[in-house]
Amino acid sequence: MEKSSAKSSHAGKVLKKELAPYRNLVVVGGNWGDEGKGKIIDLVMAHYNTTVRFSGGANAGHTVYASNGKKLVSHLIPCGLAQNKECVMGRGELVDLRLFLEELEQAKKVLGNRLPKIYLDQMSPVWTPWHGLLEAWLEYVRGKGKVGTTGKGIGPLEGLYKLRIAPLVGQIFLEKKKFIEILELLYKTLLPVFKEMKDKNIISGLIPNPVEVADILRSYAIKVKPFVADTSFVLNQASAKKKRMLFEGAQALGLDSRFGTYPFVSSGNSAAFGAAEGTGLPMQSFDATLMVVKTLPTRVGAGPFVSEMWARQSAMDFVRLHAELFADKTAPTLRSESRTNSVGTAAEFLAEKLHLINSGRAKGADYSQYFQVLGDERGATTGRGRSVGFLDIPWLCYAIRINGPKWLALTRFDMLSGVKVIPVVVGYKLFGKLLAKGQLPPPWDMDKVVPVFENWPGWSENIYGINSEAALPKGAKDFLKRLENRLDAAILLVGTGPGREDIVVRTAK
Ligand code: IMP
Repeated sequence: MEKSSAKSSHAGKVLKKELAPYRNLVVVGGNWGDEGKGKIIDLVMAHYNTTVRFSGGANAGHTVYASNGKKLVSHLIPCGLAQNKECVMGRGELVDLRLFLEELEQAKKVLGNRLPKIYLDQMSPVWTPWHGLLEAWLEYVRGKGKVGTTGKGIGPLEGLYKLRIAPLVGQIFLEKKKFIEILELLYKTLLPVFKEMKDKNIISGLIPNPVEVADILRSYAIKVKPFVADTSFVLNQASAKKKRMLFEGAQALGLDSRFGTYPFVSSGNSAAFGAAEGTGLPMQSFDATLMVVKTLPTRVGAGPFVSEMWARQSAMDFVRLHAELFADKTAPTLRSESRTNSVGTAAEFLAEKLHLINSGRAKGADYSQYFQVLGDERGATTGRGRSVGFLDIPWLCYAIRINGPKWLALTRFDMLSGVKVIPVVVGYKLFGKLLAKGQLPPPWDMDKVVPVFENWPGWSENIYGINSEAALPKGAKDFLKRLENRLDAAILLVGTGPGREDIVVRTAK
């Protein structure tokens, strides 16, 4: 299919006009991560000068493509880097200095040696090997109730910061003795835990002492120094110069430590309000929020997921047990051609499952497996299988209530192509009562929620790669309108494939 560039085309112009009044834009995820924020940020970024991260750390994984077509996976540095935009890592970000330097090296390989300006906040908490050990301990203690973290030390980094015992980026430049004192406080606090871990054989090797950790962190100092700044001041100056800034959320509302499904959350602010807390910019600096939501939400790790199609562990194991079905293994054309014109084992599998779904005999596991393979649902940071859920309107209404987005970006809409009847969760019933719009039970009652389904008509045409609203089949357009009406929110962008240009910018409201 001939595709026009969404940036230079009519759609690109529409987007430019739509975003023009909003100088400082916040982009956040509305589900449990992996909504495809990287791609949306990449698209919107063209209309902004500066790109800012305000929370999370190396647990995030955004895949973007540089202008030379090369892939860049960013974990810590804002993904605007791929477009050579000024990058700011706000104070709310949690930093692993070794990974930061590695990411810089990767970026140089993709973008060349002259990178844009990158700022790292002097007061962001810094990862040490002890954070990793504490995380392992916390998951061990939780046992069956473990969170299923990404293992990047996020909980300990944020938690120990709140306990006022975190080493901070700028402190690695202090006199060595002073820095060791700071590390000692953390070490002494955690030592009883480490001893217990040794006794229980959870750790076998030597635990580095404060002098050793100081040496490790200080060995990064020369390379890190040029990037370190008071980023709240940098951002304040940028704002005064009327630079257009894009604030990249990490994770998503369901993983926000306050308004997500606690304790099965990450530890930072994944909601839009986090942009103020994590940057030090005044609240009134933020002009609009774009919330990215996945047509079929996914979740990795543990925690409530009302619209989930299949048992969590089975869905997570599925990718590992059926590697032959996933992209870049034995079905390399699964993505590059068309989501349903794939070849070999995967194609047969998909055809069989779709037939089952359209015959009305499919069970939750069949839906889950079909969409997992079709969407290559594997975590960018961990490679774990992602569990898939049905489109969930009550959850989205809640996410809209907390994030207050001006628009939504609906990603992976093409996944529904060819499904005759699409089950959609339209209500949550708790103890026999339908919950009000935007209302969510506490997480400990979410497993008692009975989802109320409606069957919505689908469309038979494959919309993979379509990038103009006019080219969408009527069935897909009707579906979008129906969804928009239920959500009371404008769907501005609709993803139709993994490629940068596989996107529809909607104008009809
Ligand atoms: P943590 O952020 O590593 O502490 O993990 C806490 C929970 O958030 C776990 O369920 C993770 O799987 C999940 N999580 C963290 N980051 C991401 C992400 O970028 N995408 C999807 N899930 C994530």
